[in-house]
Amino acid sequence: MRFLPRLFASSFLVLLTAGAFAQDGKAARGAIDRSDPIAVLEDRIVNGRTSLGFEPDHGFLKALLQQLDVDPRTQILVFSKTSLQDKLIGPQTPRAIYFNDRVAVGAVQNSTVLEIMAPARNGYVFYTLQNESAGSPRFTKHEGADCGRCHGADALEPGLIVASTPVARDGTPVFIPRDRPPRLFEFTDHTTPVADRWGGWYVTGSHAGQPHLGNGAFTYDEAGVRHVHNADAFGAATLAGYFDVSRYLEPTSDIVALMVFEHQARMTNMLLSAGVMATRTKHLSAAAVEDLLAYMLFTDEAPLQGTVTGDKAFQAAFASAGPRDTAKRALRDFDLNTRLFKYPLSYMIYSPVFAALPPFAKQAVYARLLEILEGQGVTPRFARLSAEDRRNILEILQATKPDFTAAH
Ligand code: HEC
Repeated sequence: MRFLPRLFASSFLVLLTAGAFAQDGKAARGAIDRSDPIAVLEDRIVNGRTSLGFEPDHGFLKALLQQLDVDPRTQILVFSKTSLQDKLIGPQTPRAIYFNDRVAVGAVQNSTVLEIMAPARNGYVFYTLQNESAGSPRFTKHEGADCGRCHGADALEPGLIVASTPVARDGTPVFIPRDRPPRLFEFTDHTTPVADRWGGWYVTGSHAGQPHLGNGAFTYDEAGVRHVHNADAFGAATLAGYFDVSRYLEPTSDIVALMVFEHQARMTNMLLSAGVMATRTKHLSAAAVEDLLAYMLFTDEAPLQGTVTGDKAFQAAFASAGPRDTAKRALRDFDLNTRLFKYPLSYMIYSPVFAALPPFAKQAVYARLLEILEGQGVTPRFARLSAEDRRNILEILQATKPDFTAAH
């Protein structure tokens, strides 16, 4: 079954005209939430300032990514049956996820909708975009349990999800029996050893040929011992042998894109919940500042066991998307030999979710960050940062983050 009926020649592009929305009435709804990228896009469409092209292979996907400034090379593919449209997802039809530091988009073959999620002023916002047929793009905003039953009922916890799920050959999660109570999956981030990451995900590229849980299928025996099937797939350079890659925008589920998104998902969740809670309670505890900074400064990052090789085009595009100082250093520069980034301070410091911290909270984060970078009050938790790391990060920030410099 194809994603969309092949009614159109593949080059056929339906451009929606602005006039189609003029009577929609959405523009009259009142002030939109400018922190919500989909509300902003919808407003621009309604007001005729932009439109979304629909094409037969992927519907609105390409146009949506372009409008949201999301690079298709961020594509990561998950085949575990763990999300909303689990019946449509499996090893032959993995779900694609695309992201930047403001928004994540999910696309499933043969589905009627695209799924979108973004951090906004009061928590995460969730949308689906009807993707069956050309016409006016129809976004539906979801509140409550629709998406919240997995992503968090109060739109804060757990938020964005990246997890490692051991799966059977058909993508069904298998319980991890050694855990009491047994668990279906484990959340992963930059602190998780690579060997324990990516169950249920496809992975292209390699971590120095070391094993991880991606691309494979698993069973557990009665003693709780894990058995791995197709273990030879760990270093797969291409996914062509697994499923029809031509159905996707990219032939990859790039290892470095996965590592970036894993870092970023937890970072976004932490920044958003700190910001929303600080706004509600008018308080951010010193302990919360320490936790935020420990994650921002990668103090517990799982060390890499060797060079990570992935899609160079993704790396170049990602690294060029943020500011650089006069010595051409950027927080988005990769290391990929011993750690993910060359300068271990999260590039999410430039993101809207960081900017949305209430001023008093941002001040507290900046004050403690400066203290650590200047080498005063470096508690054991931050001892892993070398003097050189601290100096590099401080110089980059001073050159590229005016409000950090202004704060002291
Ligand atoms: C049954 C649980 C469940 C429901 C309900 C659900 N999701 Fe998810 N979603 C997941 C899981 C688990 C992931 C992580 C990737 C995966 O396993 O597919 C995910 C990932 C995503 C992603 C990619 C970013 C990320 O967090 O990894 C988007 C976007 C997303 N979901 C949007 C939505 C929207 C919009 C809704 C509601 C219309 C929704 N989801 C409902 C479980 C769910």
